[in-house]
Amino acid sequence: MDKNHLKTSLELPCGAVLKNRLVKSAMTERVSNNKLEPNEKHHRLYKQWAATGAGLLITGNVIVDKTHLESAGNIYVGDERILPKMKAWAAAAKTEDNHVWVQISHAGRQTNKFCMMRPKAPSEVKLRQLGLFGKPKAMTEEDIQEVIKGFAKAAKICKEAGFTGVQIHAAHGYLLSQFLSPHTNLRTDRWGGSLENRSRLLMTIIQEIRQAVGPEFPIGVKLNSSDFQRGGFTEDESLEVIKMLNGKIDLLEISGGTYEKLVFFEMNEAQEKANAPIKESTRKREAYFLDFSQKVRAVSQLPLLITGGFRSFDFCNQALANNELDLVGMARPFITNLDQIADFLDNKIPKLENLVLRTGIKSFDSAAEGGFYARQIIRLAKGKKARLKMGALWSSNFLIYHEFTKAMKNRLSS
Ligand SMILES: Cc1cc2nc3c(=O)[nH]c(=O)nc-3n(C[C@H](O)[C@H](O)[C@H](O)COP(=O)(O)O)c2cc1C
Repeated sequence: MDKNHLKTSLELPCGAVLKNRLVKSAMTERVSNNKLEPNEKHHRLYKQWAATGAGLLITGNVIVDKTHLESAGNIYVGDERILPKMKAWAAAAKTEDNHVWVQISHAGRQTNKFCMMRPKAPSEVKLRQLGLFGKPKAMTEEDIQEVIKGFAKAAKICKEAGFTGVQIHAAHGYLLSQFLSPHTNLRTDRWGGSLENRSRLLMTIIQEIRQAVGPEFPIGVKLNSSDFQRGGFTEDESLEVIKMLNGKIDLLEISGGTYEKLVFFEMNEAQEKANAPIKESTRKREAYFLDFSQKVRAVSQLPLLITGGFRSFDFCNQALANNELDLVGMARPFITNLDQIADFLDNKIPKLENLVLRTGIKSFDSAAEGGFYARQIIRLAKGKKARLKMGALWSSNFLIYHEFTKAMKNRLSS
């Protein structure tokens, strides 16, 4: 195929235009200062990511409630005092005529104990993960109203700072995904029970953000295709929510899983077994969530971004040519293959080779993967090169060490 579909532009429903079809998907940076603000480390990271040529960069989780961080190194956007620092970050990230959207989020029960012993969530359903997460308290009506205001205010500040869009994080088991899932939302009021009730928080937040930012500012939503858990949010429910999103947002990103089932890291395993030319059986493996796209296309005209596993130029180009999706999202290659992405976009590099970390103990592998990439992002943020040879076992403990020490530093400086 001659045409390079990755390099075609895309106009979103709000009128904003993305210069091409490659998106750097959200990756939590963990490098805020001790006041949870952006700083020169973010500038360095985003300058490098803008230089890859990707049309859209989506930031990692930026939090709307400082007591519910996803990482002690998150940025918290709660009031206008942060504007100058947000402006400097947006300016550093937009150097190549690219878009930069802020992923706004609330961690709910996935706030770790170093940040909060008893986080708030839809219901008191505890996360089962190494004892790192406290039993949540069920949110009151007042708490829910605060969350809605928090998202709308954060979006407004991001717009004022010069970011070119926001993405509402409703996937991966964070607060909005907790509300959507019958596994974590046991409420019997208007915020729980039927799917209409469970999706009310997401839909209300979209409405309030639209009011705050106006019709021309892009609003995206990251949604799970499913939680991949018994009793959790299902594909059918996801499709119903997508129908509700029709006409209300500018971009839908599909992902999947929660902290209890981190499917996007497990994809590597499927890819390891699939080092063959692209054929039908392999296609499914390269991009984990692409199967779901047909079903999404049947119920929605929303511009569609899919992230997870995309690595080969031909595969991405063909999926775009087939209209299976509108935008290709990648995360880990923006760390380990940073210097190759510009050439990949020009079809000069056929594949961004994946690095696969294995500890030898299966239950540690997701932690090793998470720790390894977290360490690399921190290196890039400090102006160092990624170091690909790092022990898997130490990587598997890195996140606990990092989160504990960063939370202590934040506390001591407050
Ligand atoms: C280090 C790291 C941090 C991540 N942080 C976030 C995040 O803040 N928000 C989010 O929605 N997804 C996050 N993800 C998931 C990615 O956006 C993406 O969905 C996943 O890595 C699969 O894509 P890939 O196969 O191209 O890496 C993170 C992934 C990694 C590796």
